[in-house]
Amino acid sequence: MSKLTLKKITTKNFNEVVKLTNTLTDHQKKCVAPNIASLAQAYVNKKRAWPRAIYLGNKPIGFIMLALWDDDIPKEDWPAYYLWRFMIAKDYQQKGYGSKVLDIIKEKCLKDGIKTFYTSCDMQGDQPYKFYINYGFIDTGIKDDDEQILKMYL
Ligand SMILES: CC(C)(COP(=O)(O)OP(=O)(O)OC[C@H]1O[C@@H](n2cnc3c(N)ncnc32)[C@H](O)[C@@H]1OP(=O)(O)O)[C@@H](O)C(=O)NCCC(=O)NCCS
Repeated sequence: MSKLTLKKITTKNFNEVVKLTNTLTDHQKKCVAPNIASLAQAYVNKKRAWPRAIYLGNKPIGFIMLALWDDDIPKEDWPAYYLWRFMIAKDYQQKGYGSKVLDIIKEKCLKDGIKTFYTSCDMQGDQPYKFYINYGFIDTGIKDDDEQILKMYL
């Protein structure tokens, strides 16, 4: 089975990563910003953003971006990473890759001495809320810009 890895975005894989957004359904496109917008945000937030392409073997199948800090996160939960953007191309969803990517990120959090891992998600439709809760995130009960805030203690 091909290995799942995270790789930097370069001039070589930029176009492929941008095009992954086109694979999502119209509803899913409302849950996550287009990868090109995320990469533009990463460019203007160079120190805070940690964008990576998700590879299955040699093939890019998704995109993930962490914020390495977020001033809105309560201080008692610092140091915390925030899962800012996350998507798996449509044909590769529901195969366990999303959970495996979160495993890789959890390992990074532990290695980096992170206390809490945050994310937020759209509440229209089952996914991705159910996916995050099943993975082990807890609902903080707080909403921000119509998105539910979730967190996980490491
Ligand atoms: C949310 C998202 C990243 C999850 O990625 P994924 O690769 O589909 O996730 P997984 O396959 O690990 O898990 C999804 C579901 O498939 C199930 N699954 C896992 N392995 C499976 C397999 N081999 N066969 C069938 N189902 C499986 C899981 O149980 C899980 O169910 P759950 O949602 O009820 O927990 C993906 O659906 C996505 O990109 N969505 C659109 C963008 C989006 O909403 N991003 C999040 C922004 S907050």
